[in-house]
Amino acid sequence: MPVTTEWSPSSWRSRDVVQQPDWADLGALDDVVKRLGSMPPLVFAGEARSLTTDLGKVANGEAFLLQAGDCAESFDAFSADAIRDKLKVILQMAVVLMYSSGVPVVKVGRIAGQFAKPRSSGTETIDGVELPSFRGHMVNDIDFTSQARVADPERLITAYQQSASTLNLVRAFTKGGFGDLSRVHAWNQEFVASSAEGQRYEEVAAGIERALQFMSACGVDTVSTPQLHTVDVSTSHEALILGYEEALTRQDSLTGDWYDCSAHMLWIGERTRQLDGAHVHFLSGVGNPIGCKVGPSVTPEEVLALCEALNPKRIPGRLTLITRMGAETIGTALPPLLEAVRDAGHPVAWACDPMHGNTFTAPSGRKTRHFDAVLAEITGFFAAHRAAGTWPGGVHIELTGDNVTECLGGAEEILDADLGTRYETMCDPRLNARQSLDLAFRVAELLRRN
Ligand code: PEP
Ligand code: CO
Repeated sequence: MPVTTEWSPSSWRSRDVVQQPDWADLGALDDVVKRLGSMPPLVFAGEARSLTTDLGKVANGEAFLLQAGDCAESFDAFSADAIRDKLKVILQMAVVLMYSSGVPVVKVGRIAGQFAKPRSSGTETIDGVELPSFRGHMVNDIDFTSQARVADPERLITAYQQSASTLNLVRAFTKGGFGDLSRVHAWNQEFVASSAEGQRYEEVAAGIERALQFMSACGVDTVSTPQLHTVDVSTSHEALILGYEEALTRQDSLTGDWYDCSAHMLWIGERTRQLDGAHVHFLSGVGNPIGCKVGPSVTPEEVLALCEALNPKRIPGRLTLITRMGAETIGTALPPLLEAVRDAGHPVAWACDPMHGNTFTAPSGRKTRHFDAVLAEITGFFAAHRAAGTWPGGVHIELTGDNVTECLGGAEEILDADLGTRYETMCDPRLNARQSLDLAFRVAELLRRN
């Protein structure tokens, strides 16, 4: 395909595209993309536009973004309980943040589509055997066998179906009573409730209960106020496998604009943010709110060029820059970016991903992160924003509602020797429900002091 300046859902195909699997059968891939193209969209354009409006408040310093969920969703760990428990911890964190800081929280899950992973290396070698890397369940399987590592296009269909079921349940939970503020106590899982963080959460929940009673005693109609009974949780994932994203990109009948209807929000990863590359080009043309990860090697000039490419009309909420610098580096790497974007007047929502710059392999051989490093990066994020006079817009967290042992530290002081107890992630280590709640209290404190 010749390079054109016109955008269409398929025009990314004329650009350099990195991080795509070596599909074994390109005919089968084309067939799958065609089939997906005739399947219903998962979200609709109006929902994506409302999220842009909400994220616009983040860009303007009037709201805080909580974006959280798995590093990689799994076809195997797919259950109503797992989805419910992930929602519980996200809702708990949001309540803690809102109650303690008084700032509205925009909730976005890494959920219902987060099935594809960029890899540092295309292959993995174990005991002299070299196989293609695992690229997420949308592409291949994690077992270290040549069979499992074949990139199978049918997986795109399974990913779509699992995303649809997950989103359906998320909608049912958030709109059908589970997200009701009178149920804040019920979001505290048993194993969390018995911990110090869980107890602290109970105090917040009791405070909310009293506030609701107080409002209704004052004559406020708490029964028919929808904001007290339903909650908005949007979906997001890394837009990595562009054939999949193209197939779900649809023209909005109201505006004529194109929307990637695989999720409300899509982001570009640190490995695919090349300015002239296919990923930036593809997402530049869809109307959704989009994110772009930026790591320690990015320059202020590159960040400004990304802002121009991805948000030329300077719409607040259109672009969230998700910084993932590492706790040691954020203090030097972030300030020049904040100053450059501030001085250029770009309306960026800034979020801190304190996970991906703090990953290391522990002596046990497991990939992990330390709770203290996660907290230190967020603390550095708030400090840099305070110095630049900009708004620390939010956090981007890898977590699970389960009682896993994947990240070190936290109140339960998980040690390297404990990691093997319940190390279940498909990809990067996630904070467990207790560590996540603990983190929410710390972030709320930073937000309050801000
Ligand atoms: C991720 O979010 O899981 C990820 C791979 O992040 P990054 O692109 O920042 O490395
Ligand atoms: Co990750």
